[in-house]
Amino acid sequence: MVGHGIVFHEVSHTYRPAKGREVLALDQISLEIKRGEFFALLGPSGCGKSTLLYALGGFQPLEKGSITVAGKSVTGPGPDRGIVFQNFALFPWKTVLQNVLYGLERQGRGKKERLLQAQQYIDLVHLTGFEKSYPSQLSGGMKQRVAIARMLAYEPEILLMDEPFGALDAQTKTILHEELIAIVERKPKTVVFVTHDVREAVLLSDRVAVMSARPGRIKEIVDTSHLNSRQPGLTQTIEFNAAVDHLWGLIRDDAKTARAQ
Ligand SMILES: Nc1ncnc2c1ncn2[C@@H]1O[C@H](COP(=O)(O)OP(=O)(O)O)[C@@H](O)[C@H]1O
Ligand SMILES: [Mg+2]
Repeated sequence: MVGHGIVFHEVSHTYRPAKGREVLALDQISLEIKRGEFFALLGPSGCGKSTLLYALGGFQPLEKGSITVAGKSVTGPGPDRGIVFQNFALFPWKTVLQNVLYGLERQGRGKKERLLQAQQYIDLVHLTGFEKSYPSQLSGGMKQRVAIARMLAYEPEILLMDEPFGALDAQTKTILHEELIAIVERKPKTVVFVTHDVREAVLLSDRVAVMSARPGRIKEIVDTSHLNSRQPGLTQTIEFNAAVDHLWGLIRDDAKTARAQ
């Protein structure tokens, strides 16, 4: 599969704001994500997870290094990569249906086809019946379902998710985990999932890259593909908790450093 996946090659990035001090956010990141893999980026707040994800999305120009997708250099956003942000980022003045239709409009399909496509993804995230609701009328979990449907609707091959469930309560989070697992099973995708939640990373992913506190580097990549996300009671098993403990050990020291900064 080499060459068909995502390759980060010696990616470094320094923020140079007009005011305030410069921040080295990413330091020489090299990483390969296989096609079809569910890959988590795990690390303490401020370690550069979002910067790395946005660079892959094409929203964040790179200072040094390169990113390729299926052998092609990333130079900007593209329909092969869909993104879900941490804080919903829905259009408040558009209904659920209109939000999901957004993005399809630029694809040049007929109106009827677009409506069918949008409805299919609204159904997939279990929002049937809420097509005419506005984001302000929805719970946090429902808003994030809309954001996921909007991303899925134009059928990108790669899903970029930046702490998508970070703002949700534990119960809603669990339900959306199950839904995401089912969605990815039905429509295979490459997923790059940013989180600071160790259990979430282990539950969802095939591999977890642990990033160190600023400047962001890859500390270790842990293979968790032997843990089947669909196995009932997985989070209660010894294997699951061993993986969680191992990852905690890796990020614990860095989490302390990040807090002290
Ligand atoms: N636009 C920006 N200008 C200056 N510094 C930034 C900017 N965006 C992020 N940073 C800094 O870069 C570092 C990495 O940020 P980020 O990628 O958002 O980390 P994470 O997503 O892991 O919390 C942080 O120290 C953050 O304060
Ligand atoms: Mg972030």
